Amino acid sequence: MELEYPTPAQGPRVLVSPSRMVVGRGAVEQVGDYTTLYGDTALVVATPEIYDIHGETVIAELEANGIEVVPFVDVRSDPTVANVEDAYSRWETEGCEVIVTLGGGSSIDVGKAIGVLAANEGSIRSFAVDEAGYGGVPNPTPPLIAVNTTAGTGSEATQTIVLTDTETTTKFIIVSEHVVPEVAIEDPVLTLSLPKSHTAFTGIDALTHAIEAFVSVKTYSVPDDYARAAIRRIARSFPTAWANGDDIDARTDMMIGQLQAGQAFTNASVALVHGMARPLGAQLHIPHGLANALLLPYVMKFSAIGAPEKYAEIARIFNVADEADSDRKAAMEAADAVRELCTDVGLATYLDDFGEVPGREEFLDVIPEMAQDAIDSGSPANNPRKPTKSEIESLFVEVYDDALASDSPRRCRAN
Ligand SMILES: [Fe+2]
Repeated sequence: MELEYPTPAQGPRVLVSPSRMVVGRGAVEQVGDYTTLYGDTALVVATPEIYDIHGETVIAELEANGIEVVPFVDVRSDPTVANVEDAYSRWETEGCEVIVTLGGGSSIDVGKAIGVLAANEGSIRSFAVDEAGYGGVPNPTPPLIAVNTTAGTGSEATQTIVLTDTETTTKFIIVSEHVVPEVAIEDPVLTLSLPKSHTAFTGIDALTHAIEAFVSVKTYSVPDDYARAAIRRIARSFPTAWANGDDIDARTDMMIGQLQAGQAFTNASVALVHGMARPLGAQLHIPHGLANALLLPYVMKFSAIGAPEKYAEIARIFNVADEADSDRKAAMEAADAVRELCTDVGLATYLDDFGEVPGREEFLDVIPEMAQDAIDSGSPANNPRKPTKSEIESLFVEVYDDALASDSPRRCRAN
C-alpha cells in the first residue's frame, strides 16, 4: 500500500527552508550584505507603522551597500488582493530585482505574493489552494529577504501566503515551495518595541503552529524535532517576554521558537485550530493569534484521544505531568497547561479591546457556515482526531458558551 505521508524510512519527504537564516542580536546589520548577493534594486515592503520604527535602520544598511531602495510602505494588516496588486505594480514600474520585507506576517505575505505575480501569469487569486491546489505556483519567484520584526508567524520560513479576498470577505492561502524566502533575518532587538497585546497574539500563534505541527497526521521525525524545540522555548520564555518586553534573552528565545514553529508546520501542517480560527477571526473581527488562543485549549482537549503520546509529551514539556503518569492521563493535562499560559499572557482579557462578539442567536446562525469554511480549508483533515462537521459545530458552541458570551465563565474583562 502506498503511504500518503511516508516516514523517511518508508519514502522521501521534502524539507523546505530559507537558504540562509541570520539569527540573533544585530542580525539586521547584515541585510545589506545579503541583498547585494541578489541584485542592485530592492523593493522594501512594509506597513507604515513598522516602517516608522525600523525603516531608517534597514534603508541605511541597504544604501551603505550600494542598493537602490524603492519603498512600498502601504502594507495593510490582513492584506488584500488589491494591496498585493498595488505593491506588484511598484515592483514592475521601478524594475526591482530583490524583495526585502520589513515586518511580520502581513509584509512577508505581500512580499511573497509580489514574487508570484512577477514570475507567473494570472491573478493572485488563481494560485490559491482552492483553485490551483498545493504547489500551485509554477515558476520560481524572485529572491525575497525577510527582515522579521515579530515572534511570530514564522512566515519567513514557510511556503504559505495568506491573503484576504474582499469580494467574499474570506481568507485564501497559496502554498508553494517557490515562495519560501531566500534569507530570513531574525534580530530579537527588533521585537523589543512590540506592544504586549501583539507579543501575546504572535506568541500564541507560534505555539499553535508548533502544537498543530507536532500532532498533525502529516508530521514525522524532522518537523517533530522542530516542534518539540519550539514548544519548549515558547513555554519557558513566553510569559517573561510578555511581562518584560525588554528582556532580550526571552525575546531571543521567542524569536528562535517561532522560527522553529514555522519550520515545523511548513514541513508538516497546521490542523483543526487553524481551520476554525480563520472563520472565527472573521466573525469576531479579532487578530489571528487571538482566534487561535480562544480555540486552542478546547481543540486540544477534543483531539488528545487521537494522539495521546504527543499530547502527553506536550504536558511533560509544560511540567504538568511526569514520566510516572500514563500517556492518557498526561495527555488530558496538556490543554489546561496551555489555557493557563494564555491567561498568564493576558489573552483572556483582550477580547473586549480587539473584538466584537455577536449575540448567541446570531452566532449560532453562522456556525454551520463557519464549520464548512473550516472543513474547506483542508486543515481539519490533518487533525489527529478527525472531526465531523457536527463536532466542529459543537466546538464552536462550546467556545461561545464557555469563553465568548458576556456571561460565560471564562469571559474576563480588561477593565
Ligand atoms: Fe497561524
